[in-house]
Amino acid sequence: MLNETLVAGSHAENVGSAGVGPDAVPITLLVNGATRTLRAEPSMTLAEALRGPLGLTGTKIACNRGACSACTVWLDGLPVCACMMLAIDVGARRVSTIEGLAQGDTLHPVQQAFIDHDALQCGFCTPGMLMSCAALLERTPAPSADDVRATISCHYCRCGTYPRRIGSAGRRQWPQGLTMAKPENLRTETFPAGIAGVSLGTVQRQIPVDEPPPLPPNRELAVVGKSFPRPNGRAKVTGAVRFTVDVSLPGMLYGRILRSPLPHARVLSIDIAAAARHPGLRAIVTVAAPEHQQSATVRYIGAPVAVVAAVSMAAAEEALSLIKVDYQSLPFVAAMREARETAAPLIYDSDTAPAGHPSGFPAAANLPLNGNVRGPAISSRGNVAQGFAQADVVVEGEYSKCRPIAVWNLTRSSPIGAPTGLRFTCPPNSPPACGKSWRKSSVCRSIASA
Ligand code: FES
Ligand code: FES
Repeated sequence: MLNETLVAGSHAENVGSAGVGPDAVPITLLVNGATRTLRAEPSMTLAEALRGPLGLTGTKIACNRGACSACTVWLDGLPVCACMMLAIDVGARRVSTIEGLAQGDTLHPVQQAFIDHDALQCGFCTPGMLMSCAALLERTPAPSADDVRATISCHYCRCGTYPRRIGSAGRRQWPQGLTMAKPENLRTETFPAGIAGVSLGTVQRQIPVDEPPPLPPNRELAVVGKSFPRPNGRAKVTGAVRFTVDVSLPGMLYGRILRSPLPHARVLSIDIAAAARHPGLRAIVTVAAPEHQQSATVRYIGAPVAVVAAVSMAAAEEALSLIKVDYQSLPFVAAMREARETAAPLIYDSDTAPAGHPSGFPAAANLPLNGNVRGPAISSRGNVAQGFAQADVVVEGEYSKCRPIAVWNLTRSSPIGAPTGLRFTCPPNSPPACGKSWRKSSVCRSIASA
């Protein structure tokens, strides 16, 4: 009761987190000019408080560890990572979020510039970027390109919209078309601009020196060359757009995945006893049933080992932390070229590869394995030799790619858990690419229905 009395006055006084909890306590926050009261566990971050009890889902959580800046808000006008601050430590400081950046229907100049320059794609990182860029403009009305680069350098954008943001955040000072390249690596070219068939003109832009010259204007084109505003641009720059991770359904469950910290290991045991006793837990799925755990092998850092479903994200995190996994580390290889060598540690100790890629990507079943080399799987159509002979340019090279870890699961296509039969479905506007639902597997222990 003493703690509750103290924290309840935190709007006027920063009482800090020492000595409160573990139960939720009432706190008062000043958010976007309004006084908001909520109950918060001492471990609740400002980002969680904004997105959960206060319903301000424009502030995003991606890494939840101060690395990506998706959660940037202002504290007394200064940008901070809301995932790195406890809600009860905010005290009397003013919190500003993306929802409060516009003045009524009038967007902040940086919000408008982001729309004008189409400086966003999925829009997931956009609120955090906007809060940082707007803060820059507040303290530096005419920022340099380096100022903007430094500001957005701590933001991760998987869509790669950085160049447009440099142009948009500093648009009061610079023309469009700035790139991230150094000046000595740029040349100026004249490009067609405007609407083909209506008002086609030209504009000069700087492009990398080795980029091919632009195609000549074509007045016959009706669509190509025509600029369309992004339909949901306004919703994305105001934090109003709803991503999968922003959806909250009555009674829905929250899933968390325990991932392997090792690149190659045999799972000797998975102890879920403590996690299973967590009152908020509803189900655990592990990579192998207890009697077959030695058959489970993880083949990359981050390979899923167990999944929990719980009544809240905090409960899911706690349950996850109670799972104990015993690994036997195995030799591994981390470079494509080394993986192809005959003496390389084997990813699969068999003559044929199983269906699917270790990371879950689809791949044909039963292809021959030559060491770590799968296949080859050859498919061809048309006349390749003739195509090369007719091509204007033939470029030869060796290409490899990795599979990027994206915020995709947070944005569009992750499943939403509902407690009925522990069946997981995707949100209505985001049908799963696989066309399936995630159901209880044979190794799923349903704590709730037991
Ligand atoms: S979510 Fe806060 S820094 Fe990434
Ligand atoms: S626009 Fe940056 S993550 Fe998509």
